[in-house]
Amino acid sequence: MLTIEPLPSRTFGGLIRVKDARPFVAAMEAAPATLPAALDARHGLLVLTGMNAINDDPDLLVRLSRPFGKEVENYRGTTSLQNMVHPAVPQIFIVSNLPPVNFAPPPRPEPPFLPDGGLPVQFPHRRGWHTDQSFRRPPPDISLFYAATPAPRDQGQTLYADGVAAYDSLPADLKARVKGLQALHVAPYHGYGEDEVRAGATPKPLGPRDGPQPQPIVRVHPVTGRKALYLCEQEQLDWIHGPIVGLEPGVDGEGGRLVYALMRHYTQPAFVYVHEWTVGDMVIYDNRSTIHTATWFDAERHGRVMWRTTVWGNPGAAYAGEARSWEAAAR
Ligand SMILES: [Fe+2]
Repeated sequence: MLTIEPLPSRTFGGLIRVKDARPFVAAMEAAPATLPAALDARHGLLVLTGMNAINDDPDLLVRLSRPFGKEVENYRGTTSLQNMVHPAVPQIFIVSNLPPVNFAPPPRPEPPFLPDGGLPVQFPHRRGWHTDQSFRRPPPDISLFYAATPAPRDQGQTLYADGVAAYDSLPADLKARVKGLQALHVAPYHGYGEDEVRAGATPKPLGPRDGPQPQPIVRVHPVTGRKALYLCEQEQLDWIHGPIVGLEPGVDGEGGRLVYALMRHYTQPAFVYVHEWTVGDMVIYDNRSTIHTATWFDAERHGRVMWRTTVWGNPGAAYAGEARSWEAAAR
């Protein structure tokens, strides 16, 4: 039913060229197992092109999200950043440098390019690697990320790393070391991030939806049974009390050194796909088995508007029976 091409020279990912998003979405609603099965078969990454009709009909994005789980999340109930919620479709989270969102792009890495002119991808030269909303339990399973108005093609890329390939290739000593360990995840920009702690920032109070939340470093995918590394760095880990539960805390502690070793391994170029955005592109990614990060773009000259949905519902046995932390009225 679907023609899926590989993404060239990578361990994961598939490419689907869509001619018209309206009949495509209707076909996926009629056969709802199709896209989730394709996503699982490609280790959690699908690129769809030609989805431009979503710009005029954002509900198409929500409809395409539904087959991926029990619930397409309503951001009016899951986040306090209400200026980032689509005014007409509350299941859409807007990532943009334009008002009213005003979300600044990340800084350029230093140096901005590799000696061969290529884009740096590997941590710690490249920073900001994360999996969406890992500061809550259970975290969302799947994200659908759509380019309504992307940055120019040589800027504002999104980088994705394959957590299954990263886990499978872990050296035996690291594989043994991470077994059963949990990292401590926290909402970004509250003063718990590595750079903020190094700068001596005073941490802000955390809301009931902000964590810190322990999450397993190795997740078992509930459908494929494959193990994947599940980790963030910098802003989305608690570098005061963590970053690893039970290991020496702090930015220069044993836990921090382990995060560096794991993230360096996870983001090596062989496991990373770089997406250069064209309007109408969509990337569907599995937050249980991949991580991603954004790159710099010239926000003085360009306005970028990206739309995202997240789908919740099948986090796996490690979360069985848990209430949703982000719905708690108080901690
Ligand atoms: Fe993200």
